[in-house]
Amino acid sequence: MLEKPSVSALLPRHLAIIMDGNGRWAQARGLARSEGHRAGAENVRTIVTECRKLEIAYLTLYAFSTENWKRPQAEISVLFSLLSDFLQRELPLLREQNIRLKTIGCVEDLPFAQRTALAHALRATKDNTAMTLNLALNYGGRSELVQAVRAIVREGLSEEAITEESLAEHLYTAGQPDPDCVIRTSGEQRLSNYLLYQSAYSELIFSPAFWPDFGAAELRAALEEYAGRKRRFGRTQEQIAN
Ligand code: IPE
Ligand code: IPE
Ligand code: MG
Repeated sequence: MLEKPSVSALLPRHLAIIMDGNGRWAQARGLARSEGHRAGAENVRTIVTECRKLEIAYLTLYAFSTENWKRPQAEISVLFSLLSDFLQRELPLLREQNIRLKTIGCVEDLPFAQRTALAHALRATKDNTAMTLNLALNYGGRSELVQAVRAIVREGLSEEAITEESLAEHLYTAGQPDPDCVIRTSGEQRLSNYLLYQSAYSELIFSPAFWPDFGAAELRAALEEYAGRKRRFGRTQEQIAN
């Protein structure tokens, strides 16, 4: 049995993280950027395990954006090779901990080896029920909206049938709750095309820690900050209190 760590307060049902700062983590140590990505990939295990212990139902990790194709080819290759390693290494953990893996993003455009490894991991975990881990791969919020609109046109939805809900059902996150909280590491304070539609009412938390240094303690501190936020969804504070 996993022991639930004590975090005093309200936890997000859906937590999304922008895992940023691998390059600067490496640079600060005089290492190559690839070493930062390696350390970052290892940290995913720590955070997934911690979120699972906390009984967070949905965890969405930004691993590769549609804009990250602009990086040097050698760096892109390192990232994809780390993805394959990660899937192979962590599949037993996902199985043991009853975690369902999903992807969001245009996965069809990833290299064949990674698509194959992903398809295997998705199939192997599809019936798991304790937590959903969404890996955002070749993900961009704008491109997600474009593909949703295209699908809606293709299906011939009537003008009246296009609602906030039906649009949401054509996003990669269909059927999942919106993220309650988006954490970005490394001190940058922007969304970088992450979950643009879904994060309309998410609490944004920025941590100065570079992703490889964002461990269980940093996660808990961020979640404590989230718990202290007052979510109003457009209402007044008095309405919320009653
Ligand atoms: C995050 O770290 C990993 C990816 C975006 C794939 P970065 O590689 O962006 O690290 P910094 O921001 O350059 O430090
Ligand atoms: C966002 O980080 C994408 C991921 C973490 C995968 P970036 O490092 O690519 O974002 P920018 O370019 O600094 O906004
Ligand atoms: Mg970055």
